[in-house]
Amino acid sequence: MENTDHMQQLISTAKAMVANFKGLVAIDESVSTLNKRFELAGIPQTEEYRRAYREVLITTPGIGNYINGAILFDETVYQKTLTGIPFMEELKKAGVIPGIKLDEGTEDLAGFPKEKVTKGLDDLAERLTAYAKLGLKFAKWRGVILIDGELPSVACIVSNTHALARYAAACQREGIVPIVEPEVIMDGDHTIERCAEVTESVLRSLFKELHLLKVELGGVILKPNMILAGKDAPQKSSPELVAKLTVNCLRNAVPATVAGVAFLSGGQDPVTASLNLNAINKNYKAELPWPVTYSFSRALHQPALEIWKGKTENVKAAQDSFLQLAKANKAAREGEFKS
Ligand code: 13P
Repeated sequence: MENTDHMQQLISTAKAMVANFKGLVAIDESVSTLNKRFELAGIPQTEEYRRAYREVLITTPGIGNYINGAILFDETVYQKTLTGIPFMEELKKAGVIPGIKLDEGTEDLAGFPKEKVTKGLDDLAERLTAYAKLGLKFAKWRGVILIDGELPSVACIVSNTHALARYAAACQREGIVPIVEPEVIMDGDHTIERCAEVTESVLRSLFKELHLLKVELGGVILKPNMILAGKDAPQKSSPELVAKLTVNCLRNAVPATVAGVAFLSGGQDPVTASLNLNAINKNYKAELPWPVTYSFSRALHQPALEIWKGKTENVKAAQDSFLQLAKANKAAREGEFKS
């Protein structure tokens, strides 16, 4: 893509998303995902409770000290605080850049049992134009890759990375920075080495597809999984090993021109996610060509949800928890986190 003002704008937004040792927060759970989390926490599964939960997070005092950007779900973009202030305005006040989840979940990949491909390309251009007008500056699209015996298939990797590249090119045309999230999920009992092998293949495929579709890497944020053993694997990995294999994988497969790397947490508990991010930044500071930060959902605010429980009297304690985890991850981003 040409180095026009348009592109410079994209590059400067992407840089701002990962600047100052801060990270991103994902508060973009779909209606069904958030409802499932509410159900487990005993919270009513209604639009009003989802709005109220998003208000708890967005209005947490001081959050802009640790968070550069928040990924929103569609309904949140139009919602307001109880006192009538649009969430988009609250974010602006807090100095937090608003972004939007654009994928529409997954469907079965025909002919490949157990594997999924992400939906949402059909009306993407129209949705992008509308969100750009509303002031959304960046977007997210998640592809899901399962490790299971011989899986993932090449077909699954190529289908998902091609869709990610189509989405990224469409975003950049609209002046929106794409976060590309090819998530190799933790489900299963595979080894950490198998996760490294699969993740490297996925990332190599992703950057090949991004190149094919002329996506400008300076205006892209990569949101990968860390390199971890499957959640049912007998052996847990130390932060030192996670950091070593994660950095090795990223350095092999991710061009240095990418604006930033912002990990998903993937079901790790908050302390483990912070320890791993910390080891990456502490042990490999000199070897990382990109800022390496967080774009967590669960590892930043699942405890807040469980504290809040849908009750006004718990808002302050829930916000304290969210702020505390945001602060911890900024420390991990700097390689200075202690559990
Ligand atoms: P987790 O940090 O909970 O994995 O969520 C990140 C995300 O945005 C998933 O798409």
